Amino acid sequence: MFEVKPVAAERLPELLRLMPKAELHIHIEGSLEPELMFALAQRNGLTMKYPDVESLRRAYVFDDLQSFLDIYHAGTLVLRTEQDFYDMTHAYLARAAADKVVHAEIFFDTQTHTGHGLSADVVISGLHRACVDARTEFGISASLILCFLRHLSEQEAFECLEQALPHRDKLVGIGLASSELGHPPEKFARVFAKARALGLHLVAHAGEEGPPAYIWSALDVLKVERIDHGVQAVKDAALMARLAQDRIALTVCPLSNLKLRVFATLAQHSLGQLLQAGITATVNSDDPAYFGGYINQNFTETFAALGLTAQHAWQLARNSFEASFIDDSMKKRYLDRLRETFENFV
Ligand code: HPA
Ligand code: ZN
Repeated sequence: MFEVKPVAAERLPELLRLMPKAELHIHIEGSLEPELMFALAQRNGLTMKYPDVESLRRAYVFDDLQSFLDIYHAGTLVLRTEQDFYDMTHAYLARAAADKVVHAEIFFDTQTHTGHGLSADVVISGLHRACVDARTEFGISASLILCFLRHLSEQEAFECLEQALPHRDKLVGIGLASSELGHPPEKFARVFAKARALGLHLVAHAGEEGPPAYIWSALDVLKVERIDHGVQAVKDAALMARLAQDRIALTVCPLSNLKLRVFATLAQHSLGQLLQAGITATVNSDDPAYFGGYINQNFTETFAALGLTAQHAWQLARNSFEASFIDDSMKKRYLDRLRETFENFV
């Protein structure tokens, strides 16, 4: 067992920035910064609803998940070509690498874009090409998780899976995103069973705004391996015990929860309670272009608000690798690098 040396509070942000980490909850469309959005609109001959970057950024004020999803969806309209998807993903991976993200598992969806007349092939090819290039350019490994949009029907999720199958080799897993309330996981039981039979890893957003019951059904009906968000689990002691016992990881996104008013302040965030209960929580950015920060900003602001320590930093970074879908030899390599960073930090 590695012993973490105490680190003074004022040195903690530096350690958080330096430590290698995996990001497991990032929607690539949510990494599209206004500057790139305007550039893509111009390249594609489209007119933006806002006159400039600053006025667009000022519109990023949300009451809840749905008010965010509406503006997020409008932003995706500038994505028209394979190169657009490449450029967006390349920009995220460059930014993530600067935050010492050494491995990313990236959420995307095709239903938004097929709804705009694009093919799933264009989306997946652009994303995948950027992931491949990032390995040599930034030394970062990246894989793709296709999310079904839960406000759409089960039938549409089946069609989405069907269209993605020619690209099966480019996907590591399947997820479930979009409007949570009123769309419980069990709505997608059969299509998740099909994805499972195809050997895909399974995750789902649950317990972001929705009740603990949605986390239970994501686990027991969909049979997911990780829960995205899951912060509502603290309301259910039996669920907390289950998550700890079965080592089900939660991909927590503190700044997202703050901006979408899941918690009124970061000081009220449940991350500390989750860790205290022995749950494999991780820290992630969700939609960094919209929520005020990439992964290191999530770490530094949350640590300051909750008074977390170097021991928590070690645990969270370790959890990010343990919970990832990389093979054991790669896991070991990343965990060795993490240990070296902590040993050499003086
Ligand atoms: N929740 C659900 N769906 C999403 C989110 C989120 O935080 N971000 C992008 N799609
Ligand atoms: Zn999310």
